[in-house]
Amino acid sequence: MAKKPQTRARPGSPGTGEQESGGRVRLQRFLADAGVASRRASELLIEEGRVKVNGKTVHDLPAFVRPGEDRVQVDGQPIAGSERHVYVMLNKPGRTLSTVEDEPGAARRTVLDLVEHPSGVRLYPVGRLDYDTRGLVLLTNDGELANRLTHPRFGVEKTYHAVVKGYLEEDALARLEKGIYLAERREGRTVGATRAAHVGLKLIKRDRDRTVLELTLKEGRNRQVRRMLAAVGSPVKKLERVAMGPLQLKGLAVGEWRELTRVELQALRRAVDKAGKAAGSAALGGTTGRPKGAAGPGAGSAGGRAGPGGKPGAGKAGEPDRRRGAGRAGPTPRKAARSEKRR
Ligand code: URA
Repeated sequence: MAKKPQTRARPGSPGTGEQESGGRVRLQRFLADAGVASRRASELLIEEGRVKVNGKTVHDLPAFVRPGEDRVQVDGQPIAGSERHVYVMLNKPGRTLSTVEDEPGAARRTVLDLVEHPSGVRLYPVGRLDYDTRGLVLLTNDGELANRLTHPRFGVEKTYHAVVKGYLEEDALARLEKGIYLAERREGRTVGATRAAHVGLKLIKRDRDRTVLELTLKEGRNRQVRRMLAAVGSPVKKLERVAMGPLQLKGLAVGEWRELTRVELQALRRAVDKAGKAAGSAALGGTTGRPKGAAGPGAGSAGGRAGPGGKPGAGKAGEPDRRRGAGRAGPTPRKAARSEKRR
């Protein structure tokens, strides 16, 4: 069901291929920086007609390229770092893997089946959503930004909308907000439980039949939202990621994708830098190296931006502001580990 993207940025237009320098560099310098050869030897390669830029052989110097935008090849081989960086936001449907391919022998749809970028660059999803979770997935070929976004300590906050059956009681909300103990697994074995870092909570809707919650997480543990809600006795019926740091899932129908705008990309870079700095300074101040308030491995960025979704308390009149309170603590780590073993 690969749908046409709603909007596409033209190559070279805002929102595509932003690079640090933003300017042109001499081709021989580019080749030298990429480790192809010294500048002088690179000049000889160019004069010998062995270097192509965007498919055309360059014979004469001076010649210039824009790193990250122009495609450079030497003897037909693409030079790493010369590929334009592409940043795509996809509204992932359910029943879709957020990996690049399925396990051997299986053939489920992946996010790559839905994104055919005209440049043909190989894109990779940043982080994972469960097979049945919908919503915002970022895909890019910018490995450095992807690493920083998925780094357990430097990553940005992620915001989800979760639908659960029935009226979610106050004590369950308070426990969620305070942090549920989640089992830790290593090599397929449960090795204990640690409390999830503080979760930003907003009530979007709550009545007898269902509760819709917005959860903002600073860490990204495996199936975290589903496990937290299951732990308070309310398994998730529907889950959607609606924001990732400053990126908001808006204007994209399910299954559609578009490139990030320049403004979005800049905001994302700023958020990653800020999270990195916050994590760095928290590490300096503490003994664990984790940001303040973070609990287990995978503890994420500091910050505190409220996610989208408007005012809390759209359900019953007079509902408390869920962002403040903290209630009774959840089960002990040992109990949590035992009850989670069955997952
Ligand atoms: N938490 C989950 O439980 N599932 C996801 O896909 C993302 C966060």
